[in-house]
Amino acid sequence: MNNKILKIKEMKKDDEKIACLTAYDASFANILEKNNIDIILVGDSLGMIFQGHKNTHEVRIEHIIYHLSCVSRKVEKALLMADLPKDSYNTKDDAYKNSKFLLDAGAEIVKIEFISEHEEIILHLLNKGIPVCAHIGLKPQYINDDKEIIIYGKDKETANELSSQAKLLENLGVDILLLECVEPSLSKEISGLLDIPVIGIGSGNDTDGQIQVLYDILGITEYPPNFSKNFLNSTETIGKAIESYVEFVKDK
Ligand code: KIV
Repeated sequence: MNNKILKIKEMKKDDEKIACLTAYDASFANILEKNNIDIILVGDSLGMIFQGHKNTHEVRIEHIIYHLSCVSRKVEKALLMADLPKDSYNTKDDAYKNSKFLLDAGAEIVKIEFISEHEEIILHLLNKGIPVCAHIGLKPQYINDDKEIIIYGKDKETANELSSQAKLLENLGVDILLLECVEPSLSKEISGLLDIPVIGIGSGNDTDGQIQVLYDILGITEYPPNFSKNFLNSTETIGKAIESYVEFVKDK
């Protein structure tokens, strides 16, 4: 197994929290790397953040490969994860071919938004030696309506479904599980139930690690999700720097 994946698994055993962020370019990847981030995700959130779309659905494998190759030039210590975008893993052959493209561009693990049809596809990738992170709860690639942007696992039926999915995915052999917008007490329960690391976003504080979209925590995203927090000092925002630059130029 890749040493970095082993290290992430050890962190769970040692009860050390795993800090993860997205990156889409070399400059930010360099800052993340220099500041000891554990996992960098080249996520299909680049559809909104970088391309200006309203969701992730337009992102193609070529886009991920391009951003991944920019990011990977600056990453040595962090585990580099990349998303398989929508419709790039509908068949075993596509999933394998596209995962290979991602590994060749520097990814060390691929992320898949899990629906039951993907069980065989995940197994196929794992059998071929490709490390997999499975993403459950809110799955942006499968959301067609804003009404589906909710907290998952609040009622008994969906809570049981998410717990069974989590257990199934661990049994299949996935290396990491990602929970997006899963009810916090259920996220805590799933993290306790599994031996593999469980990373959360919008899923409370009790998962083994946390992931956020970089532009959300820097206050750049126009409409950030309500579970994100701006960590940039409010008097030193990027907007303020640009305002000062514009003033400086106007003042000749
Ligand atoms: O694409 C992405 O950035 C993601 C995170 C929100 C987990 O999948």
